[in-house]
Amino acid sequence: MHTTEDLDELMTCRLDHHRRQVESAVIVIFGASGDLTSRKLIPALYQLYAAGQMPPDFRVIGFARREKTDASWRAELREAMDRFSRTGPVDETAFAGFAERIHYCQGDLADPLAYQRLSERIGGMPVPELRHNRLFYLATQPSQFGLIADQLHRANLLERDPAEGWHRLVVEKPFGRDLASARDLNHELTLHAHEHQVYRIDHYLGKETVQNILMFRFSNAIFERLWHRDAVDHVQVTVSEKLGVGGRGGYYEEAGALRDMMQNHLLQVLALIAMEPPVALDAEPIRDEKVKLLSSVRRPTPDQVSRQTVRGQYTAGTVAGQPIPDYRSEDKVAPSSDTETFVALKLFIDNWRWSGVPFYLRTGKALPVSASEVRVQFKQPPNVLFAAQCGPRLDANSLTLRLQPNEGITLHFNGKIPGTGIGLRPVRMHFSYDSEFGAYTPEAYERLLLDALSGDATLFIRRDEVEQAWEIVDAIRAGWDDQPMPPDSFYPAGSWGPEPAHEMLARTGHAWREPQTLR
Ligand code: BG6
Repeated sequence: MHTTEDLDELMTCRLDHHRRQVESAVIVIFGASGDLTSRKLIPALYQLYAAGQMPPDFRVIGFARREKTDASWRAELREAMDRFSRTGPVDETAFAGFAERIHYCQGDLADPLAYQRLSERIGGMPVPELRHNRLFYLATQPSQFGLIADQLHRANLLERDPAEGWHRLVVEKPFGRDLASARDLNHELTLHAHEHQVYRIDHYLGKETVQNILMFRFSNAIFERLWHRDAVDHVQVTVSEKLGVGGRGGYYEEAGALRDMMQNHLLQVLALIAMEPPVALDAEPIRDEKVKLLSSVRRPTPDQVSRQTVRGQYTAGTVAGQPIPDYRSEDKVAPSSDTETFVALKLFIDNWRWSGVPFYLRTGKALPVSASEVRVQFKQPPNVLFAAQCGPRLDANSLTLRLQPNEGITLHFNGKIPGTGIGLRPVRMHFSYDSEFGAYTPEAYERLLLDALSGDATLFIRRDEVEQAWEIVDAIRAGWDDQPMPPDSFYPAGSWGPEPAHEMLARTGHAWREPQTLR
């Protein structure tokens, strides 16, 4: 007789056997003095090292303008680890081993001599793999990407078809600010590298639960059968954040919620939720399907933009007891700024599966909770049996994929209220990652760095995906751009966004569902 645990073990299927091996390599971080390096990249690399997941040999070289030595940079990073370590206090022995592999190369991004020094450092590495396998992580302003790729090429550090080893570029968002600039950027990046050498990061794809969307959809027969216009009434995607823009006002003024969150994170989640099954679980087939899906998203006309999109901007308010100032009075924000800190969209996907099904997407800053979730709302049951007792409508079934925090999946259905009478109320069946698998979920950057080192591009964005997403966003901006933010766009911090976002759904009898608080 097998116990339930035995059976779970027997039925466990690991899919990563075909994952390529993580080879020894040198990782060069451009923009090494920046926030991303100390907050995300170094803690992720350290964590991988401490967990024994880094390749047999590796080196990290930080490249930036400020004068530093290897020793002073290591000390600085050690200090930063106290603030940003994900797993509590740093293990000093492990960090010492990690720090020995960290170096610093001072230089200006435009100075060929600096790349010469970098080349000498790489050339002097003790093991051939460290000299030949190169991961260049561009954590700089996108306006510098082209320059860095060009300089690396001139210094013979970046080649399209290296005689030995591999050369890869990892780039951070934003990939442009519209379709035209994204195309220019893609062109610059691929002047000296093949597309398959470019790894565009969207950290949402590194999140465990976002990856689970595909596993959930395509390894369970019951739900995928319902994943269709015949059974689904509409889909809601909410990515809400409690914080305002804080110290990022300068960047945010240029971006706004549509570019900062919708163009990348939410459209990626939409693609995973709605795409067709890929022919294989590999990078190209999966990305092919995402591109197909994004290209089927209807580009709204300016007239549709006015009815199917809502932008908002927060005013002073309180979130979880903390005061948040007016967006327009945040640091580096123009006093009459029209930048949106909230956006809600009603999108349609013009393909066979989803024709006529609305997809509602919303994201915003200074909202009541920080949570990301997808809710698939199924069609109303025919109300023939319960009308007298339950009124005209029963709550329809829905399935919620909670992406963060308290990751999990909940099925909502109606159940009888115990007792002698006949009464129904919505009840929930809940799966929690935490209780099923324990608390550990790797940070997105850990997974993504490891994938880039092993040459697995599945969780990175391909050029055509970026361009499709910009086409959607550009169509929306075209409908907004010549008009100032409407007076009813303002929402007090701590509320669920401006009124028109609710009205947009109410027009078709729908309503936003607040993210769940379940554990
Ligand atoms: C970033 C945006 O890409 O994602 C930020 O630039 C946003 O504005 C962040 O706060 C949200 O990421 P997460 O992982 O905290 O949901």
